[in-house]
Amino acid sequence: MGQASRRPAEASLNEAQLLDTQRAFDSVAEDYDGPRGNNELIQRMRGTLWDTVSREVPAGAQLLDIGCGTGLDAIEFARRGYQVVASDWSPAMVGRTRSRAAVAGLESSVVAVHLGVQQLDQLQEEFGGIYSNFGPLNCAPDLHVVAQECARLLKPGGKLVFSVIGRICPWELGHYALRGRFRRASVRGTRGPAAVGMNKHTIWTYYYLPREFYRAFAPLFSLEHYRALSLFMPPPYLVHYYRRRRHWYERLGRLDDHLGALPLLRDMGDHFLIVMRRR
Ligand SMILES: C[S@@+](CC[C@H](N)C(=O)[O-])C[C@H]1O[C@@H](n2cnc3c(N)ncnc32)[C@H](O)[C@@H]1O
Repeated sequence: MGQASRRPAEASLNEAQLLDTQRAFDSVAEDYDGPRGNNELIQRMRGTLWDTVSREVPAGAQLLDIGCGTGLDAIEFARRGYQVVASDWSPAMVGRTRSRAAVAGLESSVVAVHLGVQQLDQLQEEFGGIYSNFGPLNCAPDLHVVAQECARLLKPGGKLVFSVIGRICPWELGHYALRGRFRRASVRGTRGPAAVGMNKHTIWTYYYLPREFYRAFAPLFSLEHYRALSLFMPPPYLVHYYRRRRHWYERLGRLDDHLGALPLLRDMGDHFLIVMRRR
């Protein structure tokens, strides 16, 4: 993968755009771990990140969750014996994580903090691993700054495990192109931030190929491996296909499991899961 190249300053997200994204997620926090944020296809992808983090970071370590949402991952990792600092830019999401930890009796293992990925300089702890699930890093104004902050916060040899929204999603291309919605079909090709609607709000999102994403981290992190998530399976918002023929789609899921890390295939999919190691 190539040399680091900074995104032009004018293409970086501004304060108003960050607040748009915050309001969008605040508006859905109440029911986000229902069908919207945690349907069967999302749970399947979530399981892959859980197992990857468990393999890459020793149990008992302190983890940082960037963009924790309602705290489903943080609670799972607390149950697996990690200490978790769960951060999110949406105060409503942080509230959901905090109450989930209280209900589970895991307040001593999960600390929820209102902190955007653009504010990581405010953290002083040291972490054995940092993870981020389902695209919070697609909302980061500057990945180079994220890479520097992660390097500062991680112990030497510590791991990053990120699931990131990718650029090439064949299901999405086919689904929208067949309906004549060509602009929607091509949204992941946008250079710079794309305005994506959710619940009558706007999320400002960058899309990445794995190699574009890794470029920002390359000076400080070695690339361990990456794989496609939901390449043969449809993306989670097309879960109705899956529900019509579960048995058949489970076979596609197994193709994801077996083939998703192969060259070329790993560059596609709804998301990609990338693991990097602090040099
Ligand atoms: C698709 S949700 C995923 C949530 C959670 N990781 C999960 O797996 O359910 C994206 C999350 O990123 C958060 N987010 C958006 N912009 C962010 C930012 N600038 N910094 C930190 N979190 C952000 C949102 O508030 C939301 O909780």
